[in-house]
Amino acid sequence: MKNKAKEILLKNWRDGFTIPCDKLYPFQWLWDSGFIAIGFAHFDMPKAQKEIETLLNAQWENGFIPHIVFHTESDTYFPGPEFHRADLHPQSSAKYSSTGMTQPPVTGFVLEEIYNIAKNKAEALKFIESQIDKVYFNHEYFYNNRDVNNEGLVYIYHNWESGTDNSPIWDDVWKTMNPPDYKFERRDTSLVDAAERPSKREYDHYLHIIEIAKKYNYSDEKIAENSPFLVQDPLFNSVLIKSNESLITLYQLLGGNQDKIDQLKHWTKKGKSTLNSKLYNEALKAYVHYDLVNDRQIEYASSSSFTPIFAGVPSKERAADLMGTMLDKFGGEEFYLCASFDPTHKKFDPKRYWRGPVWINLNWMLYKGFKNYGYSDLAKRIKKDSIELVEKAGFFEYFDCRKENYNNEVEGCGGANFSWSAALILDLLN
Ligand code: DGY
Repeated sequence: MKNKAKEILLKNWRDGFTIPCDKLYPFQWLWDSGFIAIGFAHFDMPKAQKEIETLLNAQWENGFIPHIVFHTESDTYFPGPEFHRADLHPQSSAKYSSTGMTQPPVTGFVLEEIYNIAKNKAEALKFIESQIDKVYFNHEYFYNNRDVNNEGLVYIYHNWESGTDNSPIWDDVWKTMNPPDYKFERRDTSLVDAAERPSKREYDHYLHIIEIAKKYNYSDEKIAENSPFLVQDPLFNSVLIKSNESLITLYQLLGGNQDKIDQLKHWTKKGKSTLNSKLYNEALKAYVHYDLVNDRQIEYASSSSFTPIFAGVPSKERAADLMGTMLDKFGGEEFYLCASFDPTHKKFDPKRYWRGPVWINLNWMLYKGFKNYGYSDLAKRIKKDSIELVEKAGFFEYFDCRKENYNNEVEGCGGANFSWSAALILDLLN
């Protein structure tokens, strides 16, 4: 299994970065790259470091890091650079074409993972020293531009920024919009079963938000004033907080940098406090998303609801409640953990992308989080389920969580030979 995982990563490696999946995702994606680097760190440290270095080279002059870096031309992906037009932003990268949206900021904690995995700590630290200020600058960008209420939580302005692209959570936002019926040619649905991908109408919404951002040349200020989609996402903010803490640890190892450490501690404390006061839903006993445009919580339980445990956000009591929610709603004997959306809810759709399937990267975060809080049985189950799914169905992009479907020859969903599934299973097996 480990060999197969390594083979996939090497096959998806291009000159200086790794594609998530052949044809379906033919460029470099931000959070994919981070998870991929963790996998490479176990057997090819130069590639792990190069992956992060390439990603950070695409950073904009304002600290922003885009969610896709279009290193090459490709006719198998829509929407490409000519649709996104990130160059409209005056501080976009002169070196790379990219999108004008970002993705969960994993690079901070990925640097710490690289350090922990490295055998040669001095060499790893030297590499980290060469990159860490770029990651800090990225966090500064978030807190200065996307924390509109100055409360320690940042917003995302597009569902693709969340990483959980078509989660039912966004349905509530779509209800407040009425985009035109755009004419465009999807490429994903000629590569993967359309029933496992977002719908045409959902894509209309996705494109419409980009059109609004383009109209304002991707100005953060204008987006905050005009976008119909402004959401505080528990997953995104937990990843940011976890990365803050990793930067603190790494700056301490490097010595000096007390101002940055103090600033990071300030952001972290404030972020944890507001995540707990504003994004926790007492009735669901889970963290939820907050719609800033309509000033309300979006009340659904999803795999994102548990990610604050990865960043040490909940108190011990609240962590126990989160475990209860996971076991009650997601953890029935008939399911593999952890469905991306509440399997007891009528919107649960077991094969459609982020509307139900299990994703290995979320499982990896939840495994680490519950383990850190001392919930070793639950952590072990999440790890075991992840490995078993890949054993039974292959290194796919995502997986139906219903065990009854795995009795005969079965495949996972979405793209095959998917890089982060390979990278993170490799990490779990080490
Ligand atoms: C896609 O094309 O589905 C990607 O997830 C967007 O980032």
